[in-house]
Amino acid sequence: MRKSAATVLSRRAVVGAGASFAAATALPRSWAIAQAKPLKVGLMLPYSGTFAKLGENITTAIEILIAEKGGKLGGREIQIIKLDDESKPENAPQNADRLVKRDQVDVLIGTVHSGVQMGIHKVVQESGTLTIVPNAGNVAVTRQLCAKNVFRSSFTNWQPAYGMGLAAAKKGYKKSVWLTWDYAAGAESGAGFKDGFEKAGGEVLPTLSVPFPQTNFQPLLAQIPSLGVDVVGSFFAGGGAVQFVKEYAAAGLKAPLCGSGFLTEGTLEAQGAAAEGVETALHYGDGLENAKNTAFRKAFKDKAGREADVYAVQGYDAAQLLAVGLDAVKGDIEDEAKLYAALRGAKLDSPRGPISMSPAQNITQNIYLRRAQGGQNKVIGIAAENLADPGTGCKLA
Ligand code: PHB
Repeated sequence: MRKSAATVLSRRAVVGAGASFAAATALPRSWAIAQAKPLKVGLMLPYSGTFAKLGENITTAIEILIAEKGGKLGGREIQIIKLDDESKPENAPQNADRLVKRDQVDVLIGTVHSGVQMGIHKVVQESGTLTIVPNAGNVAVTRQLCAKNVFRSSFTNWQPAYGMGLAAAKKGYKKSVWLTWDYAAGAESGAGFKDGFEKAGGEVLPTLSVPFPQTNFQPLLAQIPSLGVDVVGSFFAGGGAVQFVKEYAAAGLKAPLCGSGFLTEGTLEAQGAAAEGVETALHYGDGLENAKNTAFRKAFKDKAGREADVYAVQGYDAAQLLAVGLDAVKGDIEDEAKLYAALRGAKLDSPRGPISMSPAQNITQNIYLRRAQGGQNKVIGIAAENLADPGTGCKLA
């Protein structure tokens, strides 16, 4: 149930106008809605700070999908409203509120940073706004705090790290430690790595972290030699990952580095030789051969002038998911039962391969093992096949 009076009023006004016009002219209600105001889609993403490039890539890919559909989804023109969330959790509730109450968006797509996602979640649980998470992996959103109006087109922090933990232990490593930023994504990916590594017989020491978005990693790296670990696992992303991988290589440590794939995603050019040979696990990689991926990568490169990465894929799939929902209700976003049923049942032809929605409304997908080589994250195997997040505590049925 949407509770924001202003939002409800504006939606009713649109739908009401369409419906009475349809009655008067004996045209179907859906046709009338399609002729009504554009559908407002708010993009709450980082366009500045350490995750700026991630937000840009998500946005570009959303625009590509909308353009492919002729500028309309479910017959409705799409109006994009962008807001830079700066990856600042403290501003998140206010920013999300601006989109929902002031701009009265019909759909909110956001965001990248797990802490900011919690602020969005608080607002959209209250307002009932349809929300699609195009990156942030915080488990709560599709576990104990899951909500019928919130869907994720990306991953949970647990998924790729769990795959990496399994793969590293299967390679014969016995003792490891997780290095990361001290916030939800770091802790939850550490938990995933531990689950996977220990399931396959290894031992993971307590996580070592620095505050987000700090990029002085010396306090972490200085501790490694005395720990006696034979592999180091890690979560960093964006600008921070560039710096971390360079410092790790420069430190000349014996233990090889591995991690959630964000460690080397969209960053290889800047990391250069420092990333060579680093193995990571992620739901995307280079060398995935399918028609959708080939077409998407070309479209992305043509528009952005750079290679696509996982963030771009997740943005594209957020828009693909929205298209599935809006097609099912022919643009009538008020038809919630039908809309949510279509979104829950969505099976997408993603550039990462075929994907589906889990009961908790997160993506079920392959987690690939990749090795950084010559500027690419080459897929060298499947770390976990068709992996769903456990969705613990989610009561959506
Ligand atoms: C997150 O905060 O959930 C997050 C941020 C960047 C990533 C992955 C996860 O690349």
